[in-house]
Amino acid sequence: MAAVDYLVIARKYRPQTFTEVAGQEVVARTLTNAIRSHRVHHAYMFTGPRGVGKTSMARILAKALCCESGPTTEPCGVCEHCKRIADSSHPDVTEVDAARFGNKEDITRLLEDVSFAPQMARVRVFILDEVHMLTGHSWNALLKVLEEPPPHMRFVFATTEVEKVLPTVLSRCQRFDFRSLDLPTIVTRLKDIAGKEGGQLSEPVLYRVARAAGGGMRDAQTLLDQLIAVSDGQASEDDLDLLLGAARGEDLRELLGHALTGASAQALTRLDACCESGAAAATVLDQLIEHLRGVMLLQACGADAPAVKRLGLPIDKLQEFANKATPEKVLRACQVLTGTQGQIRHGADPRLALEMATVRIARLGEVQDLERLVQRIERAEAGAGPR
Ligand SMILES: Nc1ncnc2c1ncn2[C@@H]1O[C@H](COP(=O)(O)OP(=O)(O)OP(=O)(O)O)[C@@H](O)[C@H]1O
Ligand SMILES: [Mg+2]
Ligand SMILES: [Zn+2]
Repeated sequence: MAAVDYLVIARKYRPQTFTEVAGQEVVARTLTNAIRSHRVHHAYMFTGPRGVGKTSMARILAKALCCESGPTTEPCGVCEHCKRIADSSHPDVTEVDAARFGNKEDITRLLEDVSFAPQMARVRVFILDEVHMLTGHSWNALLKVLEEPPPHMRFVFATTEVEKVLPTVLSRCQRFDFRSLDLPTIVTRLKDIAGKEGGQLSEPVLYRVARAAGGGMRDAQTLLDQLIAVSDGQASEDDLDLLLGAARGEDLRELLGHALTGASAQALTRLDACCESGAAAATVLDQLIEHLRGVMLLQACGADAPAVKRLGLPIDKLQEFANKATPEKVLRACQVLTGTQGQIRHGADPRLALEMATVRIARLGEVQDLERLVQRIERAEAGAGPR
């Protein structure tokens, strides 16, 4: 796939209608109700994490208000207004990044500009992104306009850090909190896009992409782009591992297998190979925990549990571990590794900490034997009665 295509995918699949915005149904419903009942507010505040649809929704609202057949909950997408809003060239829809305004003049002039009557649409829409970046002067200029908004003006503010927005500004806006997106929502969208882009990705790989994106659709789509590009469309678990700077799944499972069967030398050799191939020790640790978590959930809830599926790991491989190691051992190994995460957070050397954890897991069998021995001695002593 050409590099140019690869860069534009996240934009290419920007939702164009209210129903296309995945996972933000509450916001979409409230906005469409407002449009239907002619109660559109003059100022909205869209808050939420990065890449979950705030700017997209702001543009859709602008289209809904400006569309030739509008105000409408279903902007046509083909009229002059809709087309120009989609490619950011509509004279009455201004979209700016608040980080640009260092001094008072800038935004004051802009706000004066936008308060003129619209040129071609019914209303003017002013979309101000990252509004928390405004400086003191700019806030005042903005507040003044918000106190007496010109009747033809609609404001949409967007921010990822709403706690930095002045309460006086907040109180003049209707606020919408955009949610971070859940895995199935992201996977469904990715599947759709991958299909259109001619990429073949298995469901587990898509789940891992979605998980790596941490609930953000843009990040998920960007990862998908890269994955399709590096793999010529047929992305495998290995491609994703490489892209995420993670150890190869197969190597990792060998490491885990050796550790769980007490073969510390082989486990350490595998660990060395994982790290030498470029994976950071902390990442390997995360992967190990992820795998053990999968095994634990599988042992507890069965292979069909949604929680297992959502991990995006090969279930047949998890099942092999589940058959070999007892749930107690898996649990203890998990504890060892999460403890190691804590140590690293407190400054321990990640590689050394992980090596120690590997040896400790390999010796879990011995420890359990020892514990059993102690219990037997204790029982024997109790049986012998007090001296
Ligand atoms: N809810 C969603 N449904 C479908 N696609 C989405 C959604 N959210 C984001 N996207 C995709 O991610 C891209 C970026 O989305 P958008 O610009 O709306 O995010 P944002 O919330 O404004 O992010 P930021 O806070 O970084 O500005 C879009 O072009 C689209 O491809
Ligand atoms: Mg945005
Ligand atoms: Zn239209």
